[in-house]
Amino acid sequence: MDMTRTFHPALGEAARAFLGREHLLLIDGHAAESDSGQRTEILDPATGEVIATAAEGSATDVDRAVDAARRAFAGLWSKTTPAARTRIMLRFAELIEAHADELAQLESINSGKPLPACRNVDVPGIAEMLRYMAGWATKIGGETPAVSLAGEWHAYTLREPVGVVAQIIPWNFPLNMAMWKIAPALAAGCTIVMKPSEQTPLTALRLGELALEAGVPPGVLNIVTGFGDPVGAALAAHPRVDKVAFTGSGETGRRILHAASGNLKRVSLELGGKSPVIVFPDANLEAAAAGVCSSIFFHAGQICAAGSRLYVHERAFDQVLDAIAKRANGMKLGHGLDAGTEMGPVISQRQLARVTGYISSGEIEGATLFAGGAADQERGFFVRPTVLTNVRPGMRVHDEEIFGPVLCAMKFSDDDDLDSIAAAANGTTYGLAASIWTSDLATAHRTARRLHAGIVNVNALSSPDAALPYGGYKQSGWGRERGFEAIELYTEVKAVAVNLNV
Ligand code: NAI
Ligand code: MG
Repeated sequence: MDMTRTFHPALGEAARAFLGREHLLLIDGHAAESDSGQRTEILDPATGEVIATAAEGSATDVDRAVDAARRAFAGLWSKTTPAARTRIMLRFAELIEAHADELAQLESINSGKPLPACRNVDVPGIAEMLRYMAGWATKIGGETPAVSLAGEWHAYTLREPVGVVAQIIPWNFPLNMAMWKIAPALAAGCTIVMKPSEQTPLTALRLGELALEAGVPPGVLNIVTGFGDPVGAALAAHPRVDKVAFTGSGETGRRILHAASGNLKRVSLELGGKSPVIVFPDANLEAAAAGVCSSIFFHAGQICAAGSRLYVHERAFDQVLDAIAKRANGMKLGHGLDAGTEMGPVISQRQLARVTGYISSGEIEGATLFAGGAADQERGFFVRPTVLTNVRPGMRVHDEEIFGPVLCAMKFSDDDDLDSIAAAANGTTYGLAASIWTSDLATAHRTARRLHAGIVNVNALSSPDAALPYGGYKQSGWGRERGFEAIELYTEVKAVAVNLNV
């Protein structure tokens, strides 16, 4: 470990102390060295410097963690009452708030996201997610369906925890992605083996410690850090894992699906999108332009629901695009921990190359660079907020998820009715989110019905509420996180029928 490392001045004592620690796996309530003995370097994406190293887990570590989770599922956790789970989860939420600054600083330095967003959005958001799901723990129940069998019957359904769940998450929202999966699983009574991204494991490890401190019994939440292959692959294929929940790329989602077929474990997938934003000429255009910018430039566009394809009526096009370009060109790029930073870096050199590669491909295929373009800054992985116009279906920038701050803008006209506007908006293999900007109620609701997307926001770019189901149509995935739908992901339904005539 490099003892001469200098810390960013915005990092407080607690975050510094955490970064300076030896980061191990969390198995059965204990910090554990990985079987491989290898360590992965964890970078600050704004500088490219190493800020910590984490244990590189192996398939053997996965076996140990799954065994611990199985024991905890059969033992203490299944005997914990729903009310006790609620109390533990509420304590967990309080501990998160008590460590909010530390968590936000760690999230910012490792993911690159500006600190105010981490402190004011991500950390309060995960505490709220825990509280929301804690409320469900005591409200999960079955039904008493009326049956038409001969004689007298008493029939009912039970909703039971699915068992040991593997949760594999990406690097864009390390805290949120962890909690969107941990909270419903805990509420349902499942036990967990989580694999954070190899690039951003730090805050998940800290959450694991806080969970223990809150009273989550050992073995209920295990964390195995390391690479997709072997750790994620071993979890997805594991015969003693009952369910795998994944967020990330479609390519990896398909691999997980294949691996899960061995024991037919339950699978839920959140695989990103290419979400359309439709601006009608009667919209509040200033609000729409601001919304579009937040949607695609927040966290440098590394958001699965980012509004990456913009459709504006031709009468409003120039006004909206000029407002967007003005904001894009004025955005202050910098270190997430520097005061005043509006946009941080993308996560890695690889992601930088991917995003700039897409921008070039767009230009080669005939799109016009309206704002931004290419990389910025001498060090770290920065991309300027970028807007492409003259984009057409069939171009890679139109069809594929870029996962960077790149907006593709298109026009529609009075010749287009809602069906043809929606057909254009629906014209990708994805179907995660969509946003509609109009001041006409009927236009809003009629368009919402025509969009093939799991999430539709009207006059808003996002709706980050724990009660609203989140997930996609088409190739954006399987299942819904948040809301009661998330509890459904972590439970099985059992039908019990009792013949009262015997
Ligand atoms: P990825 O999908 O490969 O990684 C996500 C998680 O899956 C990580 O924890 C990774 O270690 C794990 N993983 C990788 N290979 C695995 C395997 N064979 N079995 C099980 N787990 C495995 O995403 P990556 O490569 O970091 O990014 C590539 C692109 O994916 C991005 O440019 C973006 O377009 C998309 N992406 C979408 C996200 C979303 O929220 N929908 C999040 C991250 C990436
Ligand atoms: Mg990958």
